[in-house]
Amino acid sequence: ALLNPDEAKRLAAAKALELVKPGMRLGLGTGTTAAHFVDLLGAKVAEGLDVLCVPTSERTRTQADTYKIPLSTLDATPELDLTIDGADEFDPQLRLIKGGGGAHLREKMVAAASKRMVVITDASKAVQTLGKFPLPIEINVFGAEATRLMIIRAAAACGCQGDVKLRRIPSGGPYVTDNGHYIVDASFGAIPDPEKLSTALLEIPGVIEHGLFIGLAKAVICAGSEGIEIFGQ
Ligand code: A5P
Repeated sequence: ALLNPDEAKRLAAAKALELVKPGMRLGLGTGTTAAHFVDLLGAKVAEGLDVLCVPTSERTRTQADTYKIPLSTLDATPELDLTIDGADEFDPQLRLIKGGGGAHLREKMVAAASKRMVVITDASKAVQTLGKFPLPIEINVFGAEATRLMIIRAAAACGCQGDVKLRRIPSGGPYVTDNGHYIVDASFGAIPDPEKLSTALLEIPGVIEHGLFIGLAKAVICAGSEGIEIFGQ
């Protein structure tokens, strides 16, 4: 049976739920795939599962709250057992692009504070080379245009060329993150050396955090028409 993307996302989320054990401190991701996981986790909590969760966005906090999932903050709970999150792309080395939903700063902080990060996706997110999905980069509001120009220059030195555009909301104003920053989306098409680009971007003073996740995901649970495939462990 062919799965539509939404069914695939839910299947991957259900598989990830098997990793959750009573007493765990969990990081909750952001996006449509992570939202399926929160739905399923909410049902388990209603049945009595005991977990403490740190959401990676105000959106996820609101959703988890509707299920009365016990919630904390990264300040009150700075060490987590497991984070389950979606991704916009993943490559064979389990490097990711995240931030399509604008939450990658908190997502990366929560993943880094977790013993294990497991990604849930549908098969459309698998790529050989990262970069077809525009790379989200969170930047300071102050001097945003100067930062954007520095990003273009730094990326070119890493073999990355393409439009770097300020993300906007439908009414035209700049998109503002949960942290009060802007985002630029960098359409590079391909990122030949993600490690090099990561380092170069983080050297720019106005850059807060970019959406390349390197060495963070331990496993990717990927659901496609062939069923579930697990990469990593
Ligand atoms: C949120 O900022 C992103 O990092 C999401 O994890 C990513 O955009 C995946 O979202 P979907 O599950 O909706 O594709």
